[in-house]
Amino acid sequence: MSPAGADAGRPLPRIAADLVRWQRAQGRHGLPWQHTRDPYRVWLSEVMLQQTQVTTVLGYYERFLARWPDVAALAAAPLDDVLGQWSGLGYYSRARHLHRCAQAVVADHGGRFPQRAAVLATLPGIGPSTAAAIASFCFDERVAILDGNVKRVLARVLAFDGDIGQSGPTRTLWRIADQLLPEDSADMPAWTQGVMDLGATVCTPRKPQCGVCPLTVHCAARASGRQADFPVKEKRLKRGRRESWCLWLQAGTGDATQVWLQQRAHSGIWAGLWTWPLFDDASGREAALSALLGEVDASAEALPSFKHVLTHLDWLLHPLRVSVQAPLDPSAALGPGRWFDRAALATLGLPAPIGKALSVG
Ligand code: ADE
Repeated sequence: MSPAGADAGRPLPRIAADLVRWQRAQGRHGLPWQHTRDPYRVWLSEVMLQQTQVTTVLGYYERFLARWPDVAALAAAPLDDVLGQWSGLGYYSRARHLHRCAQAVVADHGGRFPQRAAVLATLPGIGPSTAAAIASFCFDERVAILDGNVKRVLARVLAFDGDIGQSGPTRTLWRIADQLLPEDSADMPAWTQGVMDLGATVCTPRKPQCGVCPLTVHCAARASGRQADFPVKEKRLKRGRRESWCLWLQAGTGDATQVWLQQRAHSGIWAGLWTWPLFDDASGREAALSALLGEVDASAEALPSFKHVLTHLDWLLHPLRVSVQAPLDPSAALGPGRWFDRAALATLGLPAPIGKALSVG
């Protein structure tokens, strides 16, 4: 099916009943966010699951709920505590949006999540697919999700040959996804979970398990043996590359060691997290160090460089560890920052590679 062909009146396969039945019998049922219709819990799970595997999310989800059991508690929490609790999950803009969303629910919606996907999607960090997941799971709304897994399932079932990285074909898939919904809204939670489960466990990117798929009889890709050809996705642009020279400044020894960190701006990579001071070149770091240390007794050790891989960028970091005898105030030479002891580091929002280097990750 071509993107235009999808609109050209060819009947769509009627897959809803088979998928709903399969989800009830064989889909996933043991995930902690499945036994609730509380939109706070469902929203939290959906945001955590946006770019993160189920197995990673499980522990974070339970700890997060133990600390902030409802939206009012989360809205009242300091942002730094939320970032600290998120530490290690990555994609920190999710945590900042989560916090802003909780505050918006309290301030603009009387502390109750809106029930309609269209209204949910106006809140920070809730895109159309997440909004649809919440509205269908919690309120039975007949509204379609369309994340990467669902695009793959639909592209295969329909042999849809539009490029799913492009907005035109994606709009077509949204329209198709709407038309495939079950008629009975009571089936919506099983439908939404079913299409997620199928993408995650059966219709996987490589080696799909077509032998156990409830949609095999409907699947155009399978009929022509072309499962590997769908979805169509053109190659990404060349990845970017960036280098930074880091100053890992520490004072004291053993358990009394302190590290000096700076909070990054509230936008861009690692927004709002605490990092070593970063420089664009080695000479910038040298200049800052001599301004800082002057006559102070210090030792410096260049540590192995490491690469941090982001979605569009490889970031090469070159740490230099400098130990000074006693805490001094580096703010004049390096800009605003703070000393942190080990206990404070454990709850701080740190980028994963820096947490790992400091052994708190
Ligand atoms: N990924 C996104 N949402 C999910 C859910 N509700 N269950 C399992 N995996 C998911």
